[in-house]
Amino acid sequence: MRLLHEGKAKQVYATEEPGVVLIRFKDDATAFDGKKRGSIEDKGRLNARMSAIFFEYLEGKGIPTHYLGTAGERELRARRVEIIRVEVVVRNVAAGSLAKRLGLAEGTVLARPVLELYLKDDELGDPLINRYHVRALGLAADAEMDRAEELALAVNDLLSAYLEPRGLKLIDFKLEFGRDDSGTVLLADEISPDTCRFWDRETGERLDKDRFRRDLGGVADAYREVLRRLERR
Ligand code: TMP
Ligand code: ASP
Repeated sequence: MRLLHEGKAKQVYATEEPGVVLIRFKDDATAFDGKKRGSIEDKGRLNARMSAIFFEYLEGKGIPTHYLGTAGERELRARRVEIIRVEVVVRNVAAGSLAKRLGLAEGTVLARPVLELYLKDDELGDPLINRYHVRALGLAADAEMDRAEELALAVNDLLSAYLEPRGLKLIDFKLEFGRDDSGTVLLADEISPDTCRFWDRETGERLDKDRFRRDLGGVADAYREVLRRLERR
């Protein structure tokens, strides 16, 4: 299979089918723009499975995504898209870089969801940008960003509602969008504990990549616990 792209956590391969790619999830984990490196046991399989569950749920709720189905244990089939180089983060509770930037205690509930844009550029450390930067750099059309933001806020409502009965609070998450051949904006990339913060609703325990970023231990167990709750009917 021809490798089209390799990132820190995934590889993208061309397939026989035109317009269809295979996304392989790796066990590799990085943080702080690749300065911290490691690996999380079984992460590729767990994140592929969790992403599939989330994409299937969101598709069922009318969110257009790149997801087409599962392939191997750690692979998804997806529509080939051109990734828009803008990461969209939505936050419900202050944590991570927002808590630091605004001097808020982690866990402070935000009165309204906060949507942020970051330039997808590892070398620059994914800097915070806004819609003026997107226009000035020609990263996406206004209509594409309107759509991406509308979808991101809808995903926030849908995922929050989905996770609540599973005992998980959606603190924040990062989405990436792509355009397909016809120019339609689709939700792309992955949705997993690598790209979301999930806290246990009762105990506040962190069940996401912060366990790796902050050396809290029990990283793989936390990922397995999230999958177990997602698979619970
Ligand atoms: P932050 O608080 O570090 O800015 O992260 C916000 C959310 O985005 C959090 O759920 C983790 C996710 N995220 C990524 O998916 N990739 C990244 O490179 C970073 C920095 C954060
Ligand atoms: N994935 C990012 C990196 O490797 C950061 C993160 O998720 O914290 O730097």
